[in-house]
Amino acid sequence: MSETARLKLVIAIDGPAGAGKSTVAAHLARHFGFLNLETGAMYRALALKAIDHDLDLDEESEVLALCDTTNIALEPTRDGNRVLLDGIDVSRRVRDGDVTAAASRASVHPRVREWMVAQQRALGVGGGVVMEGRDIGTAVFPDAEVKIFLDAAPEVRGNRRYRQVASNVHEPVTVTETSVIEEMKARDERDRNRVQSPLKPAPDAVIVDSTGMSLDEVMARSEAIVQGYLDGKI
Ligand code: DC
Repeated sequence: MSETARLKLVIAIDGPAGAGKSTVAAHLARHFGFLNLETGAMYRALALKAIDHDLDLDEESEVLALCDTTNIALEPTRDGNRVLLDGIDVSRRVRDGDVTAAASRASVHPRVREWMVAQQRALGVGGGVVMEGRDIGTAVFPDAEVKIFLDAAPEVRGNRRYRQVASNVHEPVTVTETSVIEEMKARDERDRNRVQSPLKPAPDAVIVDSTGMSLDEVMARSEAIVQGYLDGKI
């Protein structure tokens, strides 16, 4: 494969929350010299705006009405994506629990998803990106050259997420491992059962179930999948 073709690749990383997508996507982007774009952060930013405007997240028309006047930008940095909502840095705020739940609710609306998908295509159109989300390989870039679907048992994903939260020395821990797992299952349920672009692997995705794997092993496996494609082996 020529260097020009290599630099146009789209790598789609999909899967449920806590499956290790962000870690894997960041690793692949660094390793192969691509941009890393976290689409979940875009749903989070829109949901944050809906919260700030006191909108009903379950009303599609209310959330959709925001889209016309909303600008969401992702700036890849060494430590993940900087998220700009109408020019304001909301990178930390979008990770809060209320925004996490709101993003899951806002993202079920088909017309909101259409708007989001158009934004995401525009961001990735030049290629050279690792794009991470729930529907990248099925809806945003169905022609992506490499598709990886990361999965793991909900208990394992919940435990990883809880340890992440508990290791943050800057924030008091207000959740239990059980509550994180329950919240994750509720989010899974919504993400997998929504009408438009439910969370599911694309038929041509390579499925990596990381239930019994360390994150290092998941990163190595994902790197091997991309390298296999570059070497013409898949
Ligand atoms: O990956 P994340 O946890 O930051 O995503 C937040 C929410 O956004 C998640 O509950 C589902 C939704 N989402 C989506 O529907 N499609 C995407 N491509 C990315 C995220």
